[in-house]
Amino acid sequence: MEISSILQGGYQHPLSRSWQQNKTLTKSMLMYPIFITDDPEASTAIQALPGQRRWGVNRLEEFIGPLVNKGLKSVILFGVPVNCVKDPVGTSADDQQGPVILAIRKLKELYPSLYIACDVCLCEYTSHGHCGVLNEDGAINTLPSVARLADVALAYAKAGADCVAPSDMMDGRILAIKRKLIDVGYGNKCTLMSYSAKFASSLYGPFRKAAGSAPAFGDRKCYQLPPGGKGLARRAIRRDVNEGADIIMVKPGMPYLDIIADAAQIAPDHPLAVYQVSGEFAMIVAGAKAGVYDLKTMAFESAQAFLRAGCTLILTYFTPEFLDWLDE
Ligand code: PBG
Ligand code: ZN
Repeated sequence: MEISSILQGGYQHPLSRSWQQNKTLTKSMLMYPIFITDDPEASTAIQALPGQRRWGVNRLEEFIGPLVNKGLKSVILFGVPVNCVKDPVGTSADDQQGPVILAIRKLKELYPSLYIACDVCLCEYTSHGHCGVLNEDGAINTLPSVARLADVALAYAKAGADCVAPSDMMDGRILAIKRKLIDVGYGNKCTLMSYSAKFASSLYGPFRKAAGSAPAFGDRKCYQLPPGGKGLARRAIRRDVNEGADIIMVKPGMPYLDIIADAAQIAPDHPLAVYQVSGEFAMIVAGAKAGVYDLKTMAFESAQAFLRAGCTLILTYFTPEFLDWLDE
């Protein structure tokens, strides 16, 4: 046997095993997606997303406080308006009394150093449930869509968000949002994280139930990428870098590791995020319940896959568990 064919001696110990990975998961790599609703006292379990709840602004301290004590560094907010009036342009998205803006203010007051990102989209606020503004014929009307998204992003930045993260997939929104932030004096105060390579996936179902954001008709295939669209994803990443994105994101995660690796090569000088989406989370939890694997081992395996593919930041519903597990 050739001496050089024996690899096992290099990873025989837990410590030497750990040297085999280029990156190790840390708490600062985790961003926790949270759902904020417009009943200030709400704490409502979300059936489709095990362990996750819709929270009212007055309940944020009991929810987030213990997590901050365990080392939570960042959250991304999703508005779940239940009582608001939905209209074709999503007027409520930047309502000063809406759940997202109230939650930004509250969290900044309670935890000044917690990094607060806000998802920017219209689908939770539009009567038709699509992510942009539509023409009469139901097609996306790009220019008013990006103008509206830029207004919403600016409103979140003004309320104190550290990061705005447009998930709508309208063409040109990164440029429009960056331009607006710069023009109004927020260019150096707020990160722009682009959901650049967001695919039309089956894995968003639990989220749409949680956020009440399923489209009223049609689907999102005319703005989210086809799952086979590797070239489109590469073009979208390149475009968003050129339009001024500060962070690039790939979404979903596990079925799209090749896209993450592509993004790491196309944008090597940008932080790279992955969104381990609601369906991936639900799938991992369900598999563990069915006895397919151990939950913690599988969750770490998924995180390690993201880091190996090139990520520096992971948006995951497992964040509270990871904060505990990383202390063990
Ligand atoms: C809406 C949005 C979605 C997600 C984040 N923002 C759903 C969609 O595009 O239909 C999915 C997140 C998840 O599944 O966890 N713009
Ligand atoms: Zn949307």
